[in-house]
Amino acid sequence: MSPPSSPQSGAHATSKPAPLSITLKINGESRTISVAPWTTLLDLLRNHLDMTGSKKGCDHGQCGACTVLLDGRRVVSCLTFAVMKDGSEVTTIEGLAKGDALHPLQQAFIDHDAFQCGYCTPGQICSAAGLIAEGRAKTVDDIRELMSGNICRCGAYPNIVAAIEQAMGAMGGSR
Ligand code: FES
Ligand code: FES
Repeated sequence: MSPPSSPQSGAHATSKPAPLSITLKINGESRTISVAPWTTLLDLLRNHLDMTGSKKGCDHGQCGACTVLLDGRRVVSCLTFAVMKDGSEVTTIEGLAKGDALHPLQQAFIDHDAFQCGYCTPGQICSAAGLIAEGRAKTVDDIRELMSGNICRCGAYPNIVAAIEQAMGAMGGSR
């Protein structure tokens, strides 16, 4: 009886796919990066560009901590393959303030003490920016419903909703 073939044997050797070069406009700056095809947008930001504002909570699309704006729409960056978004514009929490002037959502989160540990906060704020740009939230219940993809394990929800309400007023309902 012949021995089972080893996964390391020549017949099963596989070669790694080559890295791909992509260009993204990140917070207004064009960045060309070479990444493995399976690299998520979240890992590209955090591991390749040292932009650690976007957080990795579940890495499965369930918590919203990694939310960024992609061509103006909110996405969970942990489920977004970077190479599929070549040429896109990305806005992260690092890109919301204008110089020393905080984004109205950032100011509102401070005003309403809308965080405890702060781990979910970058995702909450980016998601809220997308929500306001969508223009679909008319009531507090709408805010709750349309922000339901962003989990806060500290339970800061009442303050988060109040902050978003304030920012919506300050921004006239759109970014
Ligand atoms: S880390 Fe992306 S949704 Fe949780
Ligand atoms: S403030 Fe801690 S998870 Fe939201």
